[in-house]
Amino acid sequence: MSLSLLVFYTAVISAPSLGFLIDTVQQITHRQICYTGLGCFATDPPFTSLQRPLSVLPDSPDVIQTTFLLYTRSNPTTTNEQILSASNLTSIATSYFNSQKQTKFIVHGFTHNGHRQWIRNMVAQLLIKDDYNVIVVDWGHGSGIPYTQATANTRVVGAQIAQLITVLQQSFNASMGDMHIIGHSLGAHISGYAGERLQHLGRITGKLSSF
Ligand SMILES: *[C@@H]1O[C@H](CO)[C@@H](O)[C@H](O)[C@H]1NC(C)=O
Ligand SMILES: *[C@@H]1O[C@H](CO)[C@@H](O)[C@H](O)[C@H]1NC(C)=O
Repeated sequence: MSLSLLVFYTAVISAPSLGFLIDTVQQITHRQICYTGLGCFATDPPFTSLQRPLSVLPDSPDVIQTTFLLYTRSNPTTTNEQILSASNLTSIATSYFNSQKQTKFIVHGFTHNGHRQWIRNMVAQLLIKDDYNVIVVDWGHGSGIPYTQATANTRVVGAQIAQLITVLQQSFNASMGDMHIIGHSLGAHISGYAGERLQHLGRITGKLSSF
């Protein structure tokens, strides 16, 4: 709605209904949802603005089903990928994750998932280049249309990456400076949200130009 139209509507609405309108607008714009271990996500500005008048709340972790897929030189392909969980330390302790090595996170964007060909290629190339831990962040159950919902979900996925990195640091002695998050499309937004929650993160690389 353009500003002039909004002014027009405001002008023709009588005083009592104006109060109702303001209440309704606040109900739409000031909503929040909290997820255990990740914090609360509100639609307050900047998530609602003139540029983004309709802001939606992020889906729950149960819906998004974010999965962290570990690849190393010991298990470089999807047939022997290992799933790491921030809430299951055994899944990390029994994996090939090595906290003395550098870790590369790859985060896909809108409509993609963690098993796209470009991701497999990137995993392979990174493991040729160096002896990294490569962690693919698969949030394919939350990245689909509508774009507004996928955009909202990036906030939860960013929080989940921050949660995993914190566990890797605190329980496995990994160094924050060894963490590098590579994000494509909405994955770049996710990287930003993860970085916002972490101090001294090694590096973020974002590519925003296209889906
Ligand atoms: C934790 O991870 C281990 C190793 O992957 C697995 O065997 C176990 O079932 C997991 N525990 C839970 C509660 O998911
Ligand atoms: C923790 O990591 C540091 C830096 O990589 C290393 O020097 C140290 O030996 C590690 N400590 C343990 C208990 O593994």
